[in-house]
Amino acid sequence: MSAIPLPASGASAAGPRHVAIIMDGNGRWAKRRHLPRIAGHRKGVEAVKKVARAARDLGIDYLTLYAFSSENWRRPPDEVRDLMGLLRRFIQSDIEEFIREGVRLAIVGDYRALAPDLVAMIDDAMARTAANPGPTVVIALNYGAQAEIADAARRLAEQASAGTLDPATIDETLFERTLASGKLPPVDLLIRTSGEQRLSNFLLWQAAYAELLFVDALWPDFDGDALAAALGAFAQRQRRFGGL
Ligand code: FPP
Repeated sequence: MSAIPLPASGASAAGPRHVAIIMDGNGRWAKRRHLPRIAGHRKGVEAVKKVARAARDLGIDYLTLYAFSSENWRRPPDEVRDLMGLLRRFIQSDIEEFIREGVRLAIVGDYRALAPDLVAMIDDAMARTAANPGPTVVIALNYGAQAEIADAARRLAEQASAGTLDPATIDETLFERTLASGKLPPVDLLIRTSGEQRLSNFLLWQAAYAELLFVDALWPDFDGDALAAALGAFAQRQRRFGGL
């Protein structure tokens, strides 16, 4: 039996509490318009703002957005620089809107490896929005699920070898609490845009029972209506959590 209590099976009429999105297709959006890739990413930030606002209106508590994976460092340096520039601008100028709208900002991933001024801005933005009622918009930055899981395993192994942890007590609940993102609730609905059907190392633990939705829209074209349509598709799903 699972150590983590799972919800009862059934239709998903209540709506997802935690929606996670792999925002894919910025580059293709730009290419189709003969624009540089940065134009697609810029438009992608506009979509982030629209979708965050819609999440609040649709009663979603947690919206986790995959903005930069730990594998994205392999992109050309110019593109990495452009993405960091957009992130910097987003944190600087859009945070006031988040504060006004009651959104809480959180981060998953090793964001402390980013430029020190950006880290300071992110810490400040999280502190300034910490008391907001929500929803919580979680930005995944320099994030990779396998590294996060390996890190949790290493920390538990260290405690066990130091004699402060009995290995027999390691179960799903303890493991989950040890994950850096252990405070996030399970993902109910995971959306990937642009027609690709991969998880790309995103929230592998938390998405264990997520409903997966792959949509053809490119991320810059995704908006509040598209999110509402995704919630409609979710409502049609029968969730069984391993039961009948
Ligand atoms: C995937 O599209 C998108 C990314 C790797 C980055 C997502 C980033 C943003 C939406 C902007 C920054 C976000 C914030 C929160 C400020 P792709 O470039 O892989 O598209 P392609 O597969 O069509 O080339």
